[in-house]
This record gives sequence, C-alpha cells and structure tokens, in this order.
Amino acid sequence: METDPVARRLARAATVGDLRKIARRRLPRGVFDYIDGAAEDELTSRRNEAGFADLEFRPRVLRDVGQVDASTTVLGTSMPFPLVLAPTGFTRIADPQGELAVARAAERAGLPYTLSTLSTRSIEEVAAVSGGRKWFQVYVWRDRGLVAEMIARAAAADYEALMITVDTAVLGRRERDVRRGFSLPPKIGPGTVLDGAVHPRWTWDFVRAEPIAFANVVGKDVGDGSDPVSLAEYINSQFDPALSWSDIAWFRSVWDGPIVLKGIQTVADARLAVDAGVDAIALSNHGGRQLDGAPPPIELVAPVADAVGGDVEIYCDGGVRRGSDIVKAVALGATACMAGRAYLYALAAAGERGVDHVLADLGAGVERTMALAGCASIADLGPDLVAARRG
Ligand code: FNR
Ligand code: LAC
Repeated sequence: METDPVARRLARAATVGDLRKIARRRLPRGVFDYIDGAAEDELTSRRNEAGFADLEFRPRVLRDVGQVDASTTVLGTSMPFPLVLAPTGFTRIADPQGELAVARAAERAGLPYTLSTLSTRSIEEVAAVSGGRKWFQVYVWRDRGLVAEMIARAAAADYEALMITVDTAVLGRRERDVRRGFSLPPKIGPGTVLDGAVHPRWTWDFVRAEPIAFANVVGKDVGDGSDPVSLAEYINSQFDPALSWSDIAWFRSVWDGPIVLKGIQTVADARLAVDAGVDAIALSNHGGRQLDGAPPPIELVAPVADAVGGDVEIYCDGGVRRGSDIVKAVALGATACMAGRAYLYALAAAGERGVDHVLADLGAGVERTMALAGCASIADLGPDLVAARRG
C-alpha cells in the first residue's frame, strides 16, 4: 500500500474536478471561493466549460495511431503539447511555495509559464528557480514608469514574451468575495479563526510563511498588498482604465520580444490586434471573472481563426479541464490553450507534486484523445474533427 499521503491523494485524483474537490476541502472557504469564483451570476464561467461539452468529435478510424505526437510550436519554440500556464495572481494563497512551485512544474513539463504582475513571488525569484520558458503578464498601472521598470526586469531575467491583459479596465464584481469581505492577503481575524480551525494545515502554513505581498512592487509607493485590501479597491485605484489601442506601440518601444494580447473577445478586436502588430492573441474572458455574459472562448476560435489565422497565434483560455478540450480548440484553429484554475486546484490539493500530476494528466489526455480520434500528430487536427452537438 502507498504510505506517502500526497501520492495516495494524487493516485485517486482522476480528473481536474477531483483536484477541485480536494482543494475545496483543504482551503479556507474565502480562499477557495476567490480561486473558484467568477463575476456576477458566473454565467460565463459555467459556459466556458459547457462550450467544450457542446462540441462533439467526428472521430476517424484505421489511421495508424501507433505513435501519437502531440508536440507543437508556440512562438517559434517546440513543446510537448499545446498548453501554456495562464497567469494567476496571489498564487501563494493556494500553497506557500506559490509561483515557484508552478514555474518548476511547468519547466519539468516543458511548457511555458506566465507569471502574473500580481504574483506573490517576484520576477527574479521565479527566474532563479526555473530555467524553463517564462512569460510575463502585465497589468498597466497608472504609473507607467513602474510598468516600464517591471518590463525591463522581465527582459533582464530572460522572460520570453510579454502578455498584456486587456480585459481588466476595472475589476469584475466577484460576488462570492463581496459576501465574504475577502481581502488580499486574507485577513486572519475573528471572522477567519473559525474557518482556520476547520482548515488547520492551511492556516498553519499561512501564519508560518513570510507575509504575502505583491512581490513585484514591494517598496514602491503604489501599495504592495502587505496590508489587506479588497482587490477591487486596489485595481480600481491603481490600474489605468484609459488604456487604448494606441498604447500598444508604447509596449513595442519598451519590449523587444513577442507580445501576446490576452482578453480578446470578438473577431473585430482580433483584427485590430493584427493591425497593432502583436504576435499572438489569447481569446479569453479571464475565466469568467470580468464581464459576465462574455462569450466562451472556444466559440470564438473558429471565427477568429477564419479571420486572422496565419497572421497571429491564437490561444484559447477559459474552461480547459481536460486534454480533450485542448484537442477541440486546436482542431478548430487555436495554436494552443491556456489554463489557470486547473493548476491552482492541483497546487492547493497537493502542492508542487499536484501541479506535476495535473500537467501530466492533461498531456496524457491530449495524446489519448488524438489516438481515439485517429490523429497521429497536431497537423492531423482540423475543423472536420469536431462539430456542434446536435440536440
Ligand atoms: C486569474 N487570471 C488572471 N489573469 C491575468 O491576466 N492576470 C492575473 O493576475 C490573473 N489572476 C487570476 C487569479 C485567479 C485565482 C484565477 C482563477 C484567474 C485569469 C487567468 O489568467 C485565466 O484567464 C483564467 O484562469 C482561465 O480560465 P480557467 O482556466 O481558470 O477556467
Ligand atoms: C483576478 C485578477 C488578479 O482574476 O486578475 O483575480
């Protein structure tokens, strides 16, 4: 019998859904709800996942799938399967190692890891533990000098690409967080003592670890999150809601590498992104955390690929829970998918080994799906492979 408790826990976690259940058990409710929750009625969040379920395969048989190769090329570099780890802020609320654990696991899996501007480990700390592919996501503070400085730090630390998130002019209303009065970092006050008693492991780790702060802006006068703030208050006062298409040229002037625009949600904006000269777009509604009622990214893949495929790389971000989701998106014209909650649930469920587990599981799922659908390589995936489910 397996005696290592983490290995035992992971052996029984067959799906991302299972990891989510373990995370729900282990995290204080406010922390779980911040990660799991989304904006307003959470319609978009649910539809992101449902969008994949609504597609059906048209599998082919007798195609020699003795060797399945899911490897693909993203921004000019090959990787074992089409997945990029999406940026998520405050990762240390899920596990004390936080971004370091995720970056190390991504490197082992050979996948790019995107560090959030609002990370709880700094650009340099992450670079020190991972020689793998690292991308840096930027939110645009009103203090543009601060943004330029962070971008220069990412370049100096060999980050490969800059991902500009464009769906966060203001913060979406996450009503679970409003109801709980959730702050970042979470307050260990009277309201959380009871919850802490129910989740002793998390509380012990949290209280023992060095305090959580926005690691990239420690020491700056924009507030580094070491005093609990509501995320809405912070973002709405610090981020620049006047950002516009004309600012993309500014990013080009301060960053030499590839630029990804994250949060494109229409064909019209995909075209404008091409005109602005970016290298890639991430079709994304922020996992349903921003505008509730925004369309599921998987539904945008085919029309956007028709309009601009070949001009930019297209990533599909939101609701990815299985390898088969990735295969569907790539078949419809995406270059790759991105995933956020899948690895956060895994991190909360079993730390760094949880992230190894979920990435291996998603990769195996891609290969298994390709074999069952009669596709030996990514080049074999095309729009004929999937169709909207009838009835
Ligand atoms: C996010 N996301 C996000 N995006 C971003 O550009 N910067 C950020 O700091 C964060 N922070 C963040 C925190 C948490 C807890 C979550 C769940 C998400 C959005 C993220 O990059 C991605 O768009 C979604 O997670 C995709 O949806 P799934 O994979 O979670 O369904
Ligand atoms: C979120 C912010 C950090 O989605 O992007 O919570």
